Amino acid sequence: MTTKRKFIATIVAAGLASAFATPAALAQSGKIKVGLMIPATGTFAALGTAIENGFKLHVAEQGGRLAGREIEYVKVDDESDPSKATDNVNKLIKRDNVDVIVGTVHSGVAMAMAKAAKDSGTLLIIPNAGADTITGPMCAPNIFRSSFSNWQSAYAMGEVVAKQGKKTAVTITWKYAAGDEMVAAFKEGFEKTGGKVVKTLSLPFPNVEFQALLTEIASTKPDAVFTFFAGAGAVKFVNDYAGAGLKKAIPLYGPGFLTDGTLEAQGENAQGLLTTLHYADGLNTPRDNAFRAAYNKAYKIQPDVYAVQGYDAAQLLGIGLKAVNGDMSKKDALYAAMKAARIDSPRGAFTLSRANNPVQDIYLRQVVGKENKVQNVAVKALADPARGCKM
Ligand code: PHB
Repeated sequence: MTTKRKFIATIVAAGLASAFATPAALAQSGKIKVGLMIPATGTFAALGTAIENGFKLHVAEQGGRLAGREIEYVKVDDESDPSKATDNVNKLIKRDNVDVIVGTVHSGVAMAMAKAAKDSGTLLIIPNAGADTITGPMCAPNIFRSSFSNWQSAYAMGEVVAKQGKKTAVTITWKYAAGDEMVAAFKEGFEKTGGKVVKTLSLPFPNVEFQALLTEIASTKPDAVFTFFAGAGAVKFVNDYAGAGLKKAIPLYGPGFLTDGTLEAQGENAQGLLTTLHYADGLNTPRDNAFRAAYNKAYKIQPDVYAVQGYDAAQLLGIGLKAVNGDMSKKDALYAAMKAARIDSPRGAFTLSRANNPVQDIYLRQVVGKENKVQNVAVKALADPARGCKM
């Protein structure tokens, strides 16, 4: 081939290459589509709002861009309904062609999302749902969590309650993955430290008809009650527990979801409750103070754990994107940077485990007025055991 012909051939080849380039490659300088799949209705609606607020606050602090790329949102209300989860997540992946999925609150919905993320290779960042299986047997390089595993928040409480000298406990929760896993983890921590779970009570999600179960607790007379409820369900449970006269008789414990974002509606009934969680009021670190001031300024309310998890989901994505200059087609480098990230979270800095789940301090908190006041660190740098994760 002559030099001139070679030159023309090169030009033609380059033209063809760009004409057939993948949408991902072309999108590098365009917007990043974030599929936000969270509850906007139902018992977890307020949790979804806090996650979205937190995520958007971090993006806003970066000027509306992560690694130079503008962020566009496509939203789905998942209603915390596992039966609609596969259709909902596939709309985001197949119809809307999102670059990353962020969601959700409910463990059952999140398990369907994790399966779809695995099948399609789409990046998934979970800003709440603790399903142990997602960072256990289902773990994958493209699935990350900015929140907690159900095991983490409840295991710590098992140790705390046993160390308080309680010998017997009844557990009560919704019958689904999160409730079952938190009860199992509490039992593990409690029984290892000398306690005994004498009864496990449950009702279907998202029911709140607690009376018959409260009567059973009263007649069983354990030393302690461990419970997982969240959102509107947690408000009603704490109020009903006190209303049944149980608050003074049998101390109530739970992961901090029981009293986070709910104190306004629980009022007097929540005062004094001890909970364990990876966030607390009164941490009084410069990082948390700055976050709280910014959140309060933007949304006119105090942030809760869900807001922090949303904020950190955006931070985690930002760290990954920065490492690949906003080019999401460089998946290996993107995931490697996310896995190695040290997130400067309002909760305290954390890293990710081999299963991409936060390794974090679990605080013991006590309700004082409208705050979940930090008491101490119940377990330092607690990592989920990631049982069954082959990665
Ligand atoms: C869950 O389903 O994993 C879940 C929901 C709400 C919470 C915590 C965990 O507050």
